[in-house]
Amino acid sequence: MTSLLVTGGAGFIGANFVQYWATNYADDSIVVLDALTYAGNQASLEPVASHEGYRFVHGDIRDRELVTKLLVDDKVDTIVHFAAESHVDRSILEPDAFIRTNVTGTYDLLEVVRDVWLGRDDAPASHRFHHVSTDEVYGTLDPDDAAFTEETPYAPNSPYAASKAASDHIVRSYHHTYGLQVTTSNCSNNYGRYQFPEKLIPLMIVNALTGKPLPVYGDGSNIRDWLYVDDHCRGIDQVIRKGRIGETYNIGGNCERDNISIVKEICSLIDQRFGNDSELSAVYKECPAASGKSTDSLITFVKDRPGHDWRYAIDASKIESELEFAPQEIFESGLTKTLAWLLENEPWWRAVMDGSYRDWIDTQYQS
Ligand code: NAD
Ligand code: DAU
Repeated sequence: MTSLLVTGGAGFIGANFVQYWATNYADDSIVVLDALTYAGNQASLEPVASHEGYRFVHGDIRDRELVTKLLVDDKVDTIVHFAAESHVDRSILEPDAFIRTNVTGTYDLLEVVRDVWLGRDDAPASHRFHHVSTDEVYGTLDPDDAAFTEETPYAPNSPYAASKAASDHIVRSYHHTYGLQVTTSNCSNNYGRYQFPEKLIPLMIVNALTGKPLPVYGDGSNIRDWLYVDDHCRGIDQVIRKGRIGETYNIGGNCERDNISIVKEICSLIDQRFGNDSELSAVYKECPAASGKSTDSLITFVKDRPGHDWRYAIDASKIESELEFAPQEIFESGLTKTLAWLLENEPWWRAVMDGSYRDWIDTQYQS
């Protein structure tokens, strides 16, 4: 049995991961530690609230006393470290929190882990620290460049990417210097249920439903590799169970898409849904599809993100061959599921679109 600590478990991927783990490893205990920043939402953990062995702790990864107590009291032997500031645009406007949580916070966590797991007689017989990172550490690609491998040199271009790169290096050093049993995964763009509507896909869906402009940066030609969140959770599981200690694994969806194609696909899915379900027009009166217009009439090209990386692509052959991992969801079905989930869970996204959310949207998208 595993005693798991999930940092950042109330965020998008963390909440999906906790639900995944509780479903697949019902006997394990799961402690979620989350500071509940604007991106953390305890409502995303409701499906596991009554799961035996689960508990939620509201706290910061930088609180060494609290984290020490958690590790000791719960005899934690496995940590999956999601907690981070994760939005590139916010890192451009306010990098402070990114350095504090992603860099210093990861260091604080590692120091506690080093003390409890490597420095005490009653340490667990075996342990694992899994660090969840991003493909953004590798920088940007030109059209004909080969996809990122685990050997691609780091070249982060945003404060977010730089803070994640720094954390990757610190984690690596704790393995090589102190012998901490670590693994790291660098994943591409996730999408799916519980994603905060500041990120491309949920932002576009929520804006479309509420009749707001769909802000496409630059000319919309930037390319990302997209992975459905359930596949990411399975990938992390595989790395924890079968990955080699000290190794890094890239996780991707084999699914490169440019932004404008994604936004158009969302618009056309919404048009279809409204066409098949007349009740939607009564609920979302502001959506162009409610009055028979095409949702893509909302597409608005806006000023580009500073330092906007042009293309990300993942070479996932290492995790495919070593750990026999392959994504199961194709983009079209994953996007359809994501739209369906947002339509079925309007209270969830309405609740997060509070005053601070509106302030952020006003600041970010002012012309
Ligand atoms: P998110 O912003 O939705 O969630 C982050 C969570 O961390 C929130 O619940 C927040 O409250 C919590 N948190 C922030 N600072 C904290 C602190 N100091 N102490 C404790 N908790 C804190 O992020 P996400 O999209 O779920 O990303 C999770 C992780 O996966 C991040 O490390 C991110 O870099 C990485 N990642 C994300 C993607 C993606 O596409 N979203 C892709 C690859 C990697
Ligand atoms: O690649 C993995 C990374 O993917 C993760 O590490 C990050 O945590 C996650 O936020 C994501 O970063 P991106 O910057 O790629 O995601 P975002 O959803 O912010 O943007 C995706 C693309 O869409 C990007 O090219 C910028 C563009 N975009 C985004 C927003 C929010 C727009 O055109 N308009 C928008 O309003």
